[in-house]
Amino acid sequence: MKNKEIIITKKNYSNNVKQEWTRLVKDPYHELEFSTTLYFLKKYLPKRGLILDAGGGPGRYTIELAKLGYDIVLLDLVEENLEFARKQIKKSKVEGKVKQIIQGSITDLSEFSNNTFDAVICLGGPLSHNTEEQRQKAVSELVRVSKKNSNIFTSVMGKYAVLLNTPSGWPEEVELKNFYNIIENGDDYRWRGTGYCHFFTSSELEDIFLREKVKIIDKVGLEGLNIDGKVINKFARNFPKAWKNWLDIHIKICTESFVVDSSSHILIITKKL
Ligand SMILES: C[S@@+](CC[C@H](N)C(=O)[O-])C[C@H]1O[C@@H](n2cnc3c(N)ncnc32)[C@H](O)[C@@H]1O
Repeated sequence: MKNKEIIITKKNYSNNVKQEWTRLVKDPYHELEFSTTLYFLKKYLPKRGLILDAGGGPGRYTIELAKLGYDIVLLDLVEENLEFARKQIKKSKVEGKVKQIIQGSITDLSEFSNNTFDAVICLGGPLSHNTEEQRQKAVSELVRVSKKNSNIFTSVMGKYAVLLNTPSGWPEEVELKNFYNIIENGDDYRWRGTGYCHFFTSSELEDIFLREKVKIIDKVGLEGLNIDGKVINKFARNFPKAWKNWLDIHIKICTESFVVDSSSHILIITKKL
């Protein structure tokens, strides 16, 4: 599996380990992705069991779930992420709960038997960095290693959020052919300058899961309505009481279809049949 998309993804993430570690906690806007994901994990995870954190990067979710008492297997493409995760796991004193840390790809989970895990998580966009064929392979593998009736949590980058953020964030990109590529087929070959990222609509994400034997449980817009991150951060910092109320509203509306498709990250929760 040495296609150019995987090679550039490896290079990109091996140079950005610290940035990935702080990504989910660096400000109120980014915390929306983290806290909303945790809300739905707590809602749909079994009380205990073995979880595969597939594409778990430097281990933010692994540690959080280990602290909640789950046993975890952490897998990622990038050794530098795993090296960093090992240190953080030790620091957090959850080594006993993290059963394996493995370098590998979500497209080939052959070291795990069918029906191994009580839940599988693949969060923050690992699928988005793989080509169409690899994405389907990965989904098939995530489902295969899950136990029957267990839930699979997958979040990816959303396509309409790119459009919504373009006028304020990267207007000059509209002059480039690459931008039309994103609109037409979701593929961005200029992600973080030189990387590859596939941006999904929610129905496309649903379709690749429905090719497997699963039922859709929920779809979630993790950042909620797509409001500029700078505006959100200012709101949260200047109006802490109102922000608390806003978070309650956010949880109520984040599964509505308009909100799901406008969010920067889309989470899909499926159950293996
Ligand atoms: C944005 S990070 C998310 C990390 C973590 N899940 C989180 O939410 O903080 C995306 C991760 O996907 C990993 N990744 C990309 N393609 C992968 C593949 N084919 N197999 C395993 N991991 C992959 C990258 O190495 C990176 O750690």
